[in-house]
Amino acid sequence: MRRLAHSGAVKTLIFLTAGFVLPWANTAWAAGNIHKRPYGTTAAGAAVDEYTLTNASGMEVKIITYGGTVTSIKVPDRNGNMANVVLGFSDLNSYETRSPYFGCIIGRYGNRIAKGKFTLEGQEYTLAANNGPNSLHGGNVGFDKKVWAATEVRDMSGVGVSLTYTSPDMEEGYPGTLNMKVVYTLTDNNELKIDYTATTDKPTVFNPTNHSYFNLAGEGSGPIYDEVLWMAADKFTPVDSTLIPTGTLAPVAGTAFDFTVPKVLGPAIHSNDPQVVIGKGIDHNLVLNRRSASDKSMMLGARLYDPQSGRIMETWTTEPGIQVYTGNFLDGSLYGPSGRAYRQGAAITFETQHFPDSPNHPNFPSTELKPGQTFRSSTIHKFLVD
Ligand code: GLA
Repeated sequence: MRRLAHSGAVKTLIFLTAGFVLPWANTAWAAGNIHKRPYGTTAAGAAVDEYTLTNASGMEVKIITYGGTVTSIKVPDRNGNMANVVLGFSDLNSYETRSPYFGCIIGRYGNRIAKGKFTLEGQEYTLAANNGPNSLHGGNVGFDKKVWAATEVRDMSGVGVSLTYTSPDMEEGYPGTLNMKVVYTLTDNNELKIDYTATTDKPTVFNPTNHSYFNLAGEGSGPIYDEVLWMAADKFTPVDSTLIPTGTLAPVAGTAFDFTVPKVLGPAIHSNDPQVVIGKGIDHNLVLNRRSASDKSMMLGARLYDPQSGRIMETWTTEPGIQVYTGNFLDGSLYGPSGRAYRQGAAITFETQHFPDSPNHPNFPSTELKPGQTFRSSTIHKFLVD
């Protein structure tokens, strides 16, 4: 199919057809490329592929079908020098055995559910307590550890890969057969777009995200303390000592979480704000400034800037919250393609999602998904330079 679509004659035909039949269609398919290669075999014997997406300006994104994991994002700095701005590994075994969720798809539930318990339509469900007393990131074998089925995608906006996974009823304790699709698209505007859709055959809870660890100076280049963060978040969800939200939406004003004006990260991460002390850095859900609970428009939620390289990343999302995590648990024992150790503060995540532990907080936006509904969520990481 790819070879066919690339053939000059077919492309010309499609272009001409688009021009005659759809006179408004004045653009051709995106100029990017998709390259697929075998990446490895899991311990259980499943074949894993790697998809390399490149766009017209040379931005490159690599995705493997294990965990739907983004393993590399190469973007230019202000002088055109490319660097990989996400943490990752060079081999499949490391992703299988020691990954702290580098770049993967998280499901069924991003972040924590208190004591691994929730009640839905009068029935109590119990999940694996895989993070102290709580359930984290979908349990013992979450979507980050599944091999996803993949197909290539190409349209006017970009090139990409569409990943699907069917989670059986009661997998990891969650009710309902869940059919999930994640489409990663690299556009010619240096955007990585992530579109999530899902359906279920029984009422369930669902809160997927992507867990990429960003460092705009390049992976393994040291801590992100000099990078500057702005967020469209006047409130955040304070947590207890096990990182479960207390339920209040607290103003960020006067706290370490006030990024309503751009702030250098280091002082916030090292502040003695009691919430930062609990998180060993920032590990909190920031509440995006939405007009109403039903406002699911695509909004600019966060803007990260590295003054040294000039790289900027904007995170746009349809979600109500972003879990910001500053790599507090990285201890120098892992390293990636650069060969340099990932220590505390080596990266920052922007996990666009509903709030942690929503099933136990009726005042939070609901994460329930019912049969007949289609779950939809989109996030864009857009790369720019100053
Ligand atoms: C999320 C959590 C963190 C941590 C990381 C993965 O960001 O909030 O506490 O578990 O995932 O290490």
